[in-house]
Formats: sequence, structure tokens, C-alpha cells
Amino acid sequence: MNIGVLTGGGDCPGLNAVIRAIVRKARSVGGHRVLGFYDSWDGVLEKRYEELDISKVRGILPKGGTILGTRRGSPFDYPDGVQRTRQVFNDLALDALVVIGGNGSLTVASMLADDHGLPIVGVPKTIDNDVVGTDATFGFQTAVQIATDAIDRLHTTAESHDRVMVIEVMGRDAGWIALHAGLAGGATAILVPEVPFDIKEVAAIVSRRHDRGRYASIVVVAEGAKPKLGTLEVPEPQLDKYGRELHGSISQVIAPELSRLTGFESRVVQLGHVQRGGTPTAYDRVLSSRFGLAAVDAVYAKAFGDMVVLSCGRIERRSMQVTRGQTRTIDLDLFNDVAATFFG
Ligand code: F6P
Repeated sequence: MNIGVLTGGGDCPGLNAVIRAIVRKARSVGGHRVLGFYDSWDGVLEKRYEELDISKVRGILPKGGTILGTRRGSPFDYPDGVQRTRQVFNDLALDALVVIGGNGSLTVASMLADDHGLPIVGVPKTIDNDVVGTDATFGFQTAVQIATDAIDRLHTTAESHDRVMVIEVMGRDAGWIALHAGLAGGATAILVPEVPFDIKEVAAIVSRRHDRGRYASIVVVAEGAKPKLGTLEVPEPQLDKYGRELHGSISQVIAPELSRLTGFESRVVQLGHVQRGGTPTAYDRVLSSRFGLAAVDAVYAKAFGDMVVLSCGRIERRSMQVTRGQTRTIDLDLFNDVAATFFG
């Protein structure tokens, strides 16, 4: 068999561990050819790929990023994109393609598989943990650990200066990283896209805390957090070349407003892509490896249109259709009943 593999969307720790697992199982055990396409769908459309053998994946298990490179964008960006993709499948005699991606890439993979009949299986990835249909994505745990380490460090400097530190983490549509890192790091308040915030309530929490003689506050903000309508003016976000909102400004609005309302000095920390870089945690390496092996099983089973998922600790298969245009938002019970108990 000829099995293709590509990584799509934003990179995330654990991608290389998936690629390694696919090659180990398909190449070493199964004796099949594995073709790694460079730069996501660009590599497919431009036939830029390399054959991946064991030597190519040696040593990549703990390496962050993706050895294949990644991009946003898809064959649907071109009028003849689907036709060209099909042609490449034929030219290279591809029996299957494994797409490792987040919501956007899996939606594209689902459409190509189910609507256009291409033999594609999916592997969900993203630090945002927001793919519908799986209990978790790899990369998330690593990002949470990085954010938690940062919060731990911010506590001491914040206490020394009696400051409010506003730390912004990734999560444009779902606040999984903010919720978990905030909980783990003992945040004074956590602001997520799913629950619009009132800046006056946040300020009241901070003031109450300081009145009780507790120095310093850590406010964890997901980049996609939004104020309740009419409570805080936020500038119109700029768009990137894919038409997506460029985040990174909400904390810049929140921090001065908290200073104004509480009288305490504030500082902004934007973790940004630090959260996506570096080596995956042991948990993410294990999950990625399990996903990679299961993806090869899905190819053998011709389960095209399916992705591999984590469900109650087991690796299963589920239709990628559940991801189409969807976002898995946070567990509101965890936010309201657990995290909020520790606010202030
Ligand atoms: O991969 C998802 C994500 O990490 C989002 O949380 C974040 O908004 C986005 O990627 C940033 O993407 P880029 O690297 O393209 O700026």
C-alpha cells in the first residue's frame, strides 16, 4: 500500500510522535510505503513529498513542531483543487491519506472523504482541545503545563509588587487552556470565550482579595474572551490572511481597566506561541503514539471519513462529520462548580 500523511493547521506538540507511529506500524510492521507531504495540502497539490522510512523518524518522538511543515488552507481554496487532489492520488497510486489536523483540517478531510470519495482518515490535534468527538487532543496537556509553569512564576513577581498580572493564553473559541491552567495555577479569575465577563465583577473579585490582605492577583484570559455586551469597549480585531480574527488585544484592554477600577498596578503577559512550542509531555507522546497506530488500523479497515478519537480512555473511530464547522467548548460544570470556587 501507499499511505500518505500530512499535518494541517497550527502546529502542536505531538505531531511528530503521530508521524513516527504511522511509519513504525505501516512501514516496519506492514511493509507499506509512507509518503509524507510537505506543508499540508500545498504539498499534495504541488506533489511535494518524501518517502518516510524508519531512519527519517528516528529521534523525533520528543521533538515539537512537525517534520513535514504545516499550513492553513485547503484544496477548496482553488476552483480545481478537488480535481487536482484526486489526480495526485491517482498519479502516486495513493491508497489512503492520513490527515492530522484540528477542526478546520478535519472538516476539509471529511468533505473530501464523504462528499468526494477520497480515501482519507483523520487524527485530531490541537493545543486548544476543541475538536468535537474526542475526549482530548494531544498538545493540549503540554500547552496547559507551559501556561501553568508561567503562572507559577508570575505569582512571586506579582506578590513582590502587589500587582495584578493579566496572562493571556490561546483559545479563540474555547477556553480549555485558560480553564485548566488557571485552575492548576491558582488564578484569581479565569475569563473564557464561553462565558462573557463583566469587568466590574472581575475588579470586585480582585479588590476583595486585596482587602483580605492577599497580595497580587493573577487573571487568566483566553484570547477569545469577550465582555458582556455594553460593559467594555474592545477595538475591532484585525484579520489575518485567512480572514481569521487576530487575537492578542483583549488582555491589553482588560489590564488598564482593572488598574482604573481597583487602583492596583497591572501588567500583561501574552504567552502566545510559547504554548505551542517545544517537547510534548509524556501524556501527549503516549496519546499521539496511540492515535498514529490507530490511524494505520483505520486505513487497513478502509474506515475512510473516520478519525481516531479518545473515548473514556479507549481509542475508537468516529465519523469526521461531527467536526464540520464545530467547536468543542469547555465543560461549564468544571468552570462554574470547580474553578469559580477558587476565584478571589
Ligand atoms: O492552533 C490553534 C491556535 O493555537 C489558536 O489557539 C490560536 O488562536 C491560533 O492557533 C494561532 O494561529 P497562528 O499560529 O496561525 O497565529
